[in-house]
Amino acid sequence: MKTSGLALWLYCVSAPLLADTRITIDTAHPGPVINRHIYGQFMEHLGRGIYEGIWVGKDSTIPNIDGFRTDVVNALKDLHVPVLRWPGGCFADEYHWMDGIGPPAQRKKTVNTTWGGVIDDNAFGTHEFMAFAELIGADVYINGNLGTGTPAEMAQWLEYMTSDSQSTLANLRRQNGRDQPWKIQYFALGNESWGCGGSMTPAYYTDLYKHFGSFLKTPADNKPELIASGGHTNLTEWTDYLIQHVGKDVRLNGIGHHYYTLPSGSWDTNKGPALGFDETAWFNTLKQTRRIEGFIQSNVAILDKYDPAKKTGFYVDEWGTWYDTEQGDNPGFLYQQNSLRDAIVAALNFNIFHQYADRVRMANIAQMVNVLQAMILTDKQKMLLTPTYHAFSLYVPFQDAMRLPVTTDNMPTYDNGKDTMPKLSVTAARGKNGKLYLALVNVDPRRGETVVIAGGSGFKRANGRLLTADAMDAHNTFEHPDAVAPEGFQALGSGGKITLDVPAKAVLVLELE
Ligand code: AHR
Repeated sequence: MKTSGLALWLYCVSAPLLADTRITIDTAHPGPVINRHIYGQFMEHLGRGIYEGIWVGKDSTIPNIDGFRTDVVNALKDLHVPVLRWPGGCFADEYHWMDGIGPPAQRKKTVNTTWGGVIDDNAFGTHEFMAFAELIGADVYINGNLGTGTPAEMAQWLEYMTSDSQSTLANLRRQNGRDQPWKIQYFALGNESWGCGGSMTPAYYTDLYKHFGSFLKTPADNKPELIASGGHTNLTEWTDYLIQHVGKDVRLNGIGHHYYTLPSGSWDTNKGPALGFDETAWFNTLKQTRRIEGFIQSNVAILDKYDPAKKTGFYVDEWGTWYDTEQGDNPGFLYQQNSLRDAIVAALNFNIFHQYADRVRMANIAQMVNVLQAMILTDKQKMLLTPTYHAFSLYVPFQDAMRLPVTTDNMPTYDNGKDTMPKLSVTAARGKNGKLYLALVNVDPRRGETVVIAGGSGFKRANGRLLTADAMDAHNTFEHPDAVAPEGFQALGSGGKITLDVPAKAVLVLELE
């Protein structure tokens, strides 16, 4: 029953039927840890992602904290963003960090040749990025320029950011307003080096990785994980080559894989609209997104063969939906609306990342504000939170939680013609606070599903949050920013089991007692 005024879904106990889907959580065998960094975000110099979406400048009429939009900062703080990737993307391989430091009026004006051909006045540079990360409490992931930069430029950037010495570069950082070195958690050498980052072969890139990587020296207590540009979609040869040939002299802490979800599944045709799609497009999008599991499996199999100790992570440092660009906007800005379908996509990916948590230890959705599958959309003074934001919010208890094995019986299917997929996706974990969490995703847009939840010493009740809506493409607008928002959800157990209905097209995250 849904109590409309209270926005609370309350389920009473009904006797489990044999045909119900049974979910059993094995509370006795926890692990591995779900690294909070899989809930990372990506922010590139692209469209209105940074300029307008995050940075408006100190003199803006839009309320801001030292130039960063107050509304966006507050929303991201609430989301507990664990790590931020910057400055690209393809942009990273044309970014020269010296352009973005020093007095803003004296910074170079450069052309963003990758994204829209617009002028970047470099008002947002290293100091602004680091200040923003500190403001929202996120760790940082910097993507270095291996495409058009030099080993010296890359090494000097790291020295500028991390050195506590009296070197000229460390003192330049102090002169520019930052006394203490910054802590860098991750540093990548190039981006999509198979494509926009230089159209390289794995062998050529691996040599460059070793060449550049040899000179990335930082203080012993501030050693970022070094990340190589990996493959994309179903491409495994980069993982295969890198893990066998980087060798021991340069760290290889992670390989960055990219996977985008296109409803059509093809870059050569129209990708499909963000809104106003039919059920076949809904089905195909969810099917496409689930394909990432097979691609993770094939890369992980290679890594397991050559790195059984799991020293090198498999990082999905770009993922998300990519639709046809909104009509009338600069096609290079990659602005798209975001609907309930995107929230389902996000939750399916989280559940898959949890499944491979011992290798997938970091991921970044593309991108945080106003670009592709965004958490936040802005229009000058206005801001809205997307359904994807709410999916991330529902999953906050899974950050650094211990994954728990789950078995399902009588799993129903969701069918579209002859095509089929499991109707539910399920994950469970023991949170850092010791509580038990279960997330359920129902991909069927028409039918709910009754589930019986059991495990451990039994459950008395479930409290949580539900994200659903009437339409597949339900979304938030600046006029109706709360059309899609989470609601409270409660269910009571009987005999140690909880029986409840997961509504159609829904993400449900429960705390079980
Ligand atoms: O996220 C947009 C772009 O997608 C990134 O710049 C690039 O790495 C990828 O192709």
